[in-house]
Amino acid sequence: MADRMNSNRSREWFGRTDLLGFAYRSWLKNQGWPADLFDGRPVIGIANSASDLSPCNAHLTDVAESVKRGIWEAGGFPFVFPTMGIGETLMRPTTMMFRNLMSMDLEETLRANPLDGVVLLTGCDKTTPAYLMGAASVDLPSIVVHGGPMLNGKFRGRDIGSGTDVWRMSEDVRAGNITLQDFMDAEQAMSRSPGHCMTMGTASTMGNMVEGLGMCLPGTAAIPAVDSRKKVAAHLTGRRIVEMVKQDQRISTVLTREAFENAIRVNAAIGGSTNAIIHLIALAGRVGVPLDIDDWDRLSREIPCIVNLQPNGEYLMEDFYYAGGLPVVMKDLVDSGQVHGQHVTVSGRSVAENVAEARNFNDQVIYSLAKPFKTENGLAVLRGNLAPDGAVIKPSAATPELLQHRGRAVVFETNEELHEKIEDPDLDVDPDCILVLKGAGPRGYPGMPEVGNFPLPKKILEQGVTDMVRISDSRMSGTAYGAVVLHVCPESAIGGPLALVQNGDMIELDVANRRLHLDVPDAELARRREAFTPNPQVYERGYAQLYVNHVMQADKGCDFDFLVGASGSAVPRPNH
Ligand code: FES
Repeated sequence: MADRMNSNRSREWFGRTDLLGFAYRSWLKNQGWPADLFDGRPVIGIANSASDLSPCNAHLTDVAESVKRGIWEAGGFPFVFPTMGIGETLMRPTTMMFRNLMSMDLEETLRANPLDGVVLLTGCDKTTPAYLMGAASVDLPSIVVHGGPMLNGKFRGRDIGSGTDVWRMSEDVRAGNITLQDFMDAEQAMSRSPGHCMTMGTASTMGNMVEGLGMCLPGTAAIPAVDSRKKVAAHLTGRRIVEMVKQDQRISTVLTREAFENAIRVNAAIGGSTNAIIHLIALAGRVGVPLDIDDWDRLSREIPCIVNLQPNGEYLMEDFYYAGGLPVVMKDLVDSGQVHGQHVTVSGRSVAENVAEARNFNDQVIYSLAKPFKTENGLAVLRGNLAPDGAVIKPSAATPELLQHRGRAVVFETNEELHEKIEDPDLDVDPDCILVLKGAGPRGYPGMPEVGNFPLPKKILEQGVTDMVRISDSRMSGTAYGAVVLHVCPESAIGGPLALVQNGDMIELDVANRRLHLDVPDAELARRREAFTPNPQVYERGYAQLYVNHVMQADKGCDFDFLVGASGSAVPRPNH
């Protein structure tokens, strides 16, 4: 143990007797640290993504205090540090544009400082993949405390879910089913405690992905943010990271191919967000694990949705936690041989050991593989001449009758054009049409915003229709629903076939056969391609320029081309 402590990375800073060692210790001592804290014990960073501008993560500074307690108790030396926080609801054009920046912030902070291990405090959608990606690039012992969901929304005697009910109610206002005042009254009732969206949106999905990958203590991701058990989990995580450093259990030993396969199957079973595909492919790229969108389709195919949570179903994350949470789902997957039960997680134990005692306390919330909640797959990867590099749909959240559909294209060249025309009573559209949105991909918008579940035309809503096939190169909020084809690759702005679709073209969607076809002769498509001029966004300076010049397409996880692979934790040259 003494040897292990002496080989800790932090000794390169604190184990010296020269001028540098003096400087590294002395300035820190202005915080009142006794000399023996620099004796070689594990130095643990607590990466805090809390920000008043990121409401889903605002409580994480409290969580950090509990992590600290555990670290002290186990004989570690904790340092809380901030990084940028990215909040889904406020940032424009979209937080997706800043996920890679946040990952770089964490990566560089970890490598530049005397840290032996790190606890990652995550919450809102992109903060989880950003932190995992940053930590994976450095490869220290790393563990996550996921901030947890808000309590269920409560409005006029019923539960309402973040995002999902907002989409529903905003369509109800447009269709004249509820008043604007009803809509406004729901605001406070929906978000009534700290925490992230409490539907099975992207934040909840990514929390479950963390647990499915084996990157947090079992059963902790779904604990509501305000439940005292969240602080217990944080405390225990603080203890555990010190052990992980002593055992040299690095993130690369946890994020194996088996871990990703487990997570993909978990995502199918929970009916998770399509955004998980992009984030996990990007994460796999950082640790050198081969993973592509076809893996998602292949590994998800046999797994039905067994969780009855919005947007696929009825309940919310609080109910999921009280029903037993993800360990119940994972036990079912382990018992049926659908996941790698022997995979060793950050708990130091295998998946099978982690979930051996799991019990289901509410079979209306968590069903089983033997008696699933929905037989439709959680997601499907489509290919065809409209999406040669793939596209994604979430069948469990779509109207089943639309999963096989042929319709006339109604095309919107930009998101702005869509919003201009969608209320127009003269728009040439009927319920069988297929709505196509261009210019919303990684380089075209930029940032690939969550606009794929765009509103239906008002005249269609007024007919009582609630779903239509929609196709775009954008993403969709994990809280949203509908027959929505997303992530069309390559995107239209760089000349993907989506750019060639015109009003009146016929499009065929055949989810069972994983097909997305533009029924236009090849010669005509070649003629249109000849006339097309690529139109990615162009920036003169700054991060936006870096982003559009280096972001890869959705099938590659939208990571930057220069961030693929890891740089490791080698100690940089000193500052004197
Ligand atoms: Fe942060 Fe939904 S807005 S998780």
